[in-house]
Amino acid sequence: MVRFAKRVRSIEPSPTVRLSDMIAESKAQGKTILSLAIGEPDFPTPAHIVDAAKKALDAGFTKYTPAPGIRELREAIAEKSRTENRIPAKPENVLVAPTKHTLFMTCMALLDSGDEAILPDPGWVSYGPMVTLAGARPVPVRASDEDGFVPTADAVAEAITPRTRLLLLNSPSNPGGSVYSRAQTKALADLAVDHDLILVSDEIYEKILYQGEHVSPASLDGMFDRTITVNGFSKTFSMTGWRLGWLVAPPPLFKEIAKVQEHTITCATAFVQKAGVAALTGPTAPLEAMVKEFRARRDLVLRELSKIDGLSTYTPSGAFYVFPKVDGMEDSAALCERILEETSVAVTPGSAFGAAGEGHIRLSYAASRETITESVRRMGDVLRRR
Ligand SMILES: Cc1ncc(COP(=O)(O)O)c(C=O)c1O
Repeated sequence: MVRFAKRVRSIEPSPTVRLSDMIAESKAQGKTILSLAIGEPDFPTPAHIVDAAKKALDAGFTKYTPAPGIRELREAIAEKSRTENRIPAKPENVLVAPTKHTLFMTCMALLDSGDEAILPDPGWVSYGPMVTLAGARPVPVRASDEDGFVPTADAVAEAITPRTRLLLLNSPSNPGGSVYSRAQTKALADLAVDHDLILVSDEIYEKILYQGEHVSPASLDGMFDRTITVNGFSKTFSMTGWRLGWLVAPPPLFKEIAKVQEHTITCATAFVQKAGVAALTGPTAPLEAMVKEFRARRDLVLRELSKIDGLSTYTPSGAFYVFPKVDGMEDSAALCERILEETSVAVTPGSAFGAAGEGHIRLSYAASRETITESVRRMGDVLRRR
């Protein structure tokens, strides 16, 4: 009998990855599933980015690169961080890796057994398991509908113990689509200072913003030295399959996290890094067109959802998800299964995002307008028959 490690036995498979795989498999078998379950833009990667990768391949750029990334890309990311995010980053602070892996390496470098990491609840499905894999304890803090899915400083303060090491923030957020205000970000950053915590800021939806401003905690006074900023190409440039992202960290943190990179993936894929340079330095028109379309779809999905009784839906300010609350519903997994079986529409149960996500359904509007309208109509039929 194989005995698996406790750290792996204590986590579940990713519910969203499972759902995506299941949808892909069903499609491959010729079944038509309408999906509002996938967290990836349904736009092609812009041509100039694809061309840069092809050029790099043709030029034989297919070998190991320096572990933290190629110089050009680290420079482009540092420049972007300084000008767009007001983070005082130098290329030496930039570590290039798939975004998910940057978060995992951060947990591995900073958490010991018995340590605690505070996470927003509802929050992205992988934060908790990554903390668990590092041997530490995830501490979810409720970021409720009433608080616009932003963890309040009071709730976070209450969750802090002498074992708390990390505070993880995510704005714009998945699944709530919330955007933390400057004041909210500052209040949370102050807690990190007061309790000597490292702040991890996941900014992957930074550019998919409809209202408000994007505030990087590392730009706030005195915060650079205790903040790890995580970002990536997946959502902004429709590059989910390229597996490219980065983190920005002050030197002592960078040094330890880089060791994890050196002993795990070594470096990000060489020619993909060249594509990353093209993404950051190329035309912004594809991004602007995508965000414009997402905004229209957000309005569409909200309009369609408002036709269904018994739903309350917070208006998201960013990302491409809505997270309606279904009155009197206590088992979102069972409901989503029923929606899928009866109507061939895939949506994600709120419980996948934490205890506070129960009672909700996540709909990704990274899908065509027709798919959105038809899926919400079918979902409404099931909800009316409840
Ligand atoms: C909040 C959040 N952070 C990080 C990631 C990971 O991004 P990537 O797929 O680029 O590694 C995702 C992906 O869905 C996400 O939603």
